[in-house]
Amino acid sequence: MNDLDAIVAQAQAELSTAATPADLENAKARFLGKSGRITELMKGMGALSVDEKKTRGAAINQAKQAIEAALNASRQALANAELALQLKAEALDVSLPGRQRGAGGLHPVSRTLERIEAIFASMGFDVADGPEIESDWHSFTSLNNPPNHPARSMQDTFYVDIQGEDGIAYNLRPHTSPMQVRYAHQHVARHAAAFAAAAADTTGTLKAPEIRVIAPGRTYRIDSDATHSPMFHQCEGLWLGENVSFKDLKVVFTDFCRRFFESDDLVLRFRPSFFPFTEPSAEVDIQFQSGPLAGRWLEVAGSGQVHPNVVRNMGLDPERVIGFAFGMGPDRLTMLRYGVSDLRQFFDGDLRFLSQFQ
Ligand code: DAH
Repeated sequence: MNDLDAIVAQAQAELSTAATPADLENAKARFLGKSGRITELMKGMGALSVDEKKTRGAAINQAKQAIEAALNASRQALANAELALQLKAEALDVSLPGRQRGAGGLHPVSRTLERIEAIFASMGFDVADGPEIESDWHSFTSLNNPPNHPARSMQDTFYVDIQGEDGIAYNLRPHTSPMQVRYAHQHVARHAAAFAAAAADTTGTLKAPEIRVIAPGRTYRIDSDATHSPMFHQCEGLWLGENVSFKDLKVVFTDFCRRFFESDDLVLRFRPSFFPFTEPSAEVDIQFQSGPLAGRWLEVAGSGQVHPNVVRNMGLDPERVIGFAFGMGPDRLTMLRYGVSDLRQFFDGDLRFLSQFQ
């Protein structure tokens, strides 16, 4: 091996083992730098003859090119290694399961409310919505339940720090019954012309527009155990006309229960009761004739013929308008339909419970 081959071999060895870019530049300087081995050889050529210069110069150049090639290869190798390190450090673990956003679903009580609305809508009932913060007049007085009347204590009411015009605090409505009077007022205003025409008609052929409405929504009472939650749901029903009777209530409510529970195998019973806003009043019980609940009487609603004082507070004439109201508990209907024993589960927000209804 001549001297040049030895230098090239040594350069290749040093360049290829340089561990860092700085090591590589130092190695380069040792061979190609100002006082590097190759540069020194070039400087030494001055003493040679022209012919010797040609062959020696060509040989040195070849050696230099070989060293430069080795330098470039090492640079590339170092750059590749650095890139590989960086990629490894910044790698994404694509095997990690993604964060999922599952499809939501309807709350079981919402499903019940939708079913109630659909069934009553098919029987020609309007669906109305109203405020949950209610005036004392709407929640009680308009419903024939005057201040200081003992019947008020049937409901343990939440009061709100807002004074009404009558000086009595607003309340979180303890039932949906205030919607009876609210809706009647809207209805009378909306159909003012038809009401006026019916009132003016002495032949008795023109009838005032009937009120047929349900009002589902949230209600509140200071009450909490397995079957009571401070926030719960009610659905009010009201049907007023010139000749609407208890018989109609029984037909409508029986039809509703059979469709809601998807069973013709149930019977209703009206059990005498008391509510200030109805006279007479009745609790509605149902009894399944088959299935897991067969034989037990289950209370599902309060009801009654709307009291004349309430009809008057609606702006209607109790001599001409008669009908019934009912109030039922969608939470309880949901418990019965799905066989749930603790009402509080509906409002705990536990997905293990709620997702079973999807
Ligand atoms: N508002 C009553 C309650 O919360 C339920 C009720 C009973 C509603 C009889 C009515 C009715 O419309 O006629 O206990």
